[in-house]
Amino acid sequence: MVLFDFFESAELPNPQVDPDQAAAIAQQVFGVTGPARELGSQQDCNFLIQSGEARFVLKIANPVFHPQELAAQHAAMRLVAQRGGIEVPLIVPAADGQELAWADVGGARLITRLMTYLPGEQLAEVAHVSPAAVAELGATSARMCQALADFSHPGLDRVLQWDLRHAARVVDLLLPFVADADRARQVRLATAAAQERLRRLAGDLPEQAIHGDLTEDNVVCRRRDDGRLIPAGVIDFGDLARSWRIADLAVGCQSLLHHAPRDPMIVAPAVAAFHQITPLSRAEIEAFWPLVVQRAATLVVSGEQQASLSPDNGYVAGARARDWACFTCATSIPVEVMTEALLHLLHRPAPGPRSTAASWSTAASWSTGTALLPSLPPADMVLMDLSVTSTGLGGDRWHDPDAEAELATQIAGDSGKVAVARHGEYRITRSRPNSALAPETCALHAEVFLTAPVPVHAPLRGVAEVRGGTVAVQADDGTTLHLDGVRPDTASGGALASGGALASGGAPASGGAPVSGGAPAGGQALDSGQRIGMAGPGRLRIQLCTVNGLRPPAFAGPALAPGWLAVCPDPSGLLGLDVATRPADPRGLLARRAASFAHVQEHYYADPPQIEAGWRHHLADVTARAYLDMINNVTILGHGHPRLAEAVARQWALLNTNSRFHYAQLAEFTERLAGLAPDGLDTVYLVNSGSEANDLALRLACIHTGRRDIVCVREAYHGWSRATDEVSTSTADNPRALQTRPDWVHVLRTPNTYRGDFRGPAAGCQYARDAAGVIEGLHRDGAGVAAFIAEAYYGNAGGMPLPDGYLTSVYQAVRHAGGLCIADEVQVGYGRLGDYFWGFEQQQVVPDIITVAKGMGNGHPLGAVITRRDIADSFAKEGYFFSSTGASPVSCQVGNTVLDVLADEKLQENARTVGAHLRRRMEELQSRHEIIGAVHGTGLYMGVELVRDRSTLEPATAETAAICDRLLELGVIVQPTADRMNVLKIKPPLCLTAASADFFADMLDEALTSGW
Ligand SMILES: Cc1ncc(COP(=O)(O)O)c(C=O)c1O
Repeated sequence: MVLFDFFESAELPNPQVDPDQAAAIAQQVFGVTGPARELGSQQDCNFLIQSGEARFVLKIANPVFHPQELAAQHAAMRLVAQRGGIEVPLIVPAADGQELAWADVGGARLITRLMTYLPGEQLAEVAHVSPAAVAELGATSARMCQALADFSHPGLDRVLQWDLRHAARVVDLLLPFVADADRARQVRLATAAAQERLRRLAGDLPEQAIHGDLTEDNVVCRRRDDGRLIPAGVIDFGDLARSWRIADLAVGCQSLLHHAPRDPMIVAPAVAAFHQITPLSRAEIEAFWPLVVQRAATLVVSGEQQASLSPDNGYVAGARARDWACFTCATSIPVEVMTEALLHLLHRPAPGPRSTAASWSTAASWSTGTALLPSLPPADMVLMDLSVTSTGLGGDRWHDPDAEAELATQIAGDSGKVAVARHGEYRITRSRPNSALAPETCALHAEVFLTAPVPVHAPLRGVAEVRGGTVAVQADDGTTLHLDGVRPDTASGGALASGGALASGGAPASGGAPVSGGAPAGGQALDSGQRIGMAGPGRLRIQLCTVNGLRPPAFAGPALAPGWLAVCPDPSGLLGLDVATRPADPRGLLARRAASFAHVQEHYYADPPQIEAGWRHHLADVTARAYLDMINNVTILGHGHPRLAEAVARQWALLNTNSRFHYAQLAEFTERLAGLAPDGLDTVYLVNSGSEANDLALRLACIHTGRRDIVCVREAYHGWSRATDEVSTSTADNPRALQTRPDWVHVLRTPNTYRGDFRGPAAGCQYARDAAGVIEGLHRDGAGVAAFIAEAYYGNAGGMPLPDGYLTSVYQAVRHAGGLCIADEVQVGYGRLGDYFWGFEQQQVVPDIITVAKGMGNGHPLGAVITRRDIADSFAKEGYFFSSTGASPVSCQVGNTVLDVLADEKLQENARTVGAHLRRRMEELQSRHEIIGAVHGTGLYMGVELVRDRSTLEPATAETAAICDRLLELGVIVQPTADRMNVLKIKPPLCLTAASADFFADMLDEALTSGW
């Protein structure tokens, strides 16, 4: 027996109960005393009862519902808690033991229920919903599904307006409430298209009891350690019914769309998580987006109806704008495209291209006279590489709209052939540096850059129409060939008259994609091989689309590209070419890396983008998504520097040998390095890395002093070789570092004035005294000190300066104990600090040995030790020193060119000015975001330290990692550092511009404001 039928009783005004009445019911019926506060509800009446520490929800049911329906909800809640492991409210029985209790309210007898209040927050309260939260919503939906799979109850026999099986009827009924005619038309069209698909799929969709309203409003979330809001429990089983099991997932995903109005693929993690727990059938995947659209349509029409019924209901009014935003997002993408994108996500590709598309793109042949451009044989065409790894497009041509045509002209000039750009290629020319959103880079068409006019013919039979600059030829099954850049023949001169119209139907989507629907209106029949018109000189865009009436955009963004490419097959067969792009597979590549590369050599990010190109302070992945590089301290000049690339290529072509030979580059480079060091440090060794430089420095010190004991500081990293590892104390790099140092290594207290043992103005003296005590102790014991090694600016601890005067005191004590002072300038030297070329200048000391690497080679393996001649002479007594490649002509050429560019491009000066600007921006963020405890550093070497509490300095370690993940989504690469991994390390190439510094600050602000 159907207990409730929405179509029989369409009007559902909420019961009228005030908070005093609610409090009285809670006390009289349930024995719970406390004030009542109204909670929103669309059809019932809900109150929060605060009874001492305990909180309850009093629900007063709309009288249209049968007690059996409410009993079914209670039974389902118990089942879900038990089997699904999902937190749900507990039912509190009335004083007489009943779960459903009748109460008299204002003359009406209403059913009341009491349940515990599930504490938490809602996703609706945050602007940004993390992929982890979206995934958990999908997983919750899947677990709910499994828990209720075999649940049956007479109370499920109801016809609800929210049951998506009835969505089309609901929309029909309530559409008149949508006053805006344009909006009403959009709803009608979208519902009709979705309904058509669902009708076809309905028989294959499994049904069962479902929650029915598993939206972000009904999912209770908790803050995880990393600060992300993650679903933990579910409330409000009021729409429990039997329906399609996929509907719950659609309802949940639909509710998220307003968070990312331009990105319907926000739902992807939920769908993937659901599928992993409860595998979706093909029919369910195909039904998913039509259901999202239907849900969005039902919500907007119901919202309009509710608004007219209860104009004063704030809950209804608030939901209205949100519902329309969700509807707009749901209909911004054709259902076919979204479905294909999800099939691709779940590795369920379509069975194959549709017949007409297949025959158009493969069977049409230039030689049989059915080619699109019969006067242009394939041999006269040449492929043009516009991908991220194109060598024809230097980084300065990224996002340069003219670059494509110029390259085509160059190719035509060089080869005498016509350049063709691939379908499915992610074009670097469409990349957009400093962009929060991944730009639309994937070509959904092939493009011919014609150098002269050529005739264009119909490759197959169809109906042709002209609209604007586009000719569309449609086959019987709706597959359409779109040609941009054709001048159609006039009626008198050829086949085609202009003025026909290809109906696009539906509302325009974001990014220019119209929704599908509509059919060609009129048009002119064309035979295979019949002439259409002329194209060229210039671009001819050729696009196929298998969706009837849809005009796809020319380009798609990476998230939706697989969906678009599935409905826009490769048209290159029409040119007689077979040049399909093979899509990159970053995850497959990662698996190959994992199989052969030592795991301890970790990679950034759990799911890293595949980065294949760099330009200045930008990096690009294989989809031509650009990222601002705030982490590559090695690449001081920036990526892809043409002067360096050219110099290296020239030197490689001339000579590359080793330092036992005599060549100019070596003498010039060592002379320049010695010239950069303080007076007296006149002797240079060249090696390949920072580890080697430090290793050699330690050896020099031990031999020169005849001692073996080394003093270093905590939270330091000096390299991976045996000796440099022994003096590395960073627990972030090696969690057991402090317990496993050998007896000759003596570790000084962390000289960290922000969170170390000593803070405040006197901290510098205290640390220096403490350090001097350790060193004097070694001296007293007779061991003495061979060397003290430290970064002159405290890099690994988070980019902070050492306390004023610290190195002066420590160097004095070390020298008094007979030791040498090694300044590890591997990270901080070479101009990065802006005000200083070397870090030790900031401390106003002169070391005995300087080690340098990283930036001095801009990424080429190059390191150096600069020291005094007497120290080098001591070492020479022990034998000889040779590094096969350390001082090679190529390495020296790199070193010289880096110094030239540093000077010519004034990069140290840039580090100073842009660094100061960035610091001001970071300090301003600190004034608004509690989580920023401190901004350390200077120049382009900074650390933004994140804390949970500014007084306890509890490190926000998990949050820092999550914020870095969020920043990657926003187009910024930055990583955590320091022992507690709670400092954003900021050490970009020194060519960083103020605009990019602002972009970084804006994105960090966005992440901290909207959530991560
Ligand atoms: C301060 C410092 N010293 C030495 C090294 C080791 O340099 P490399 O990786 O070139 O061996 C590093 C590397 O991160 C470093 O940061």
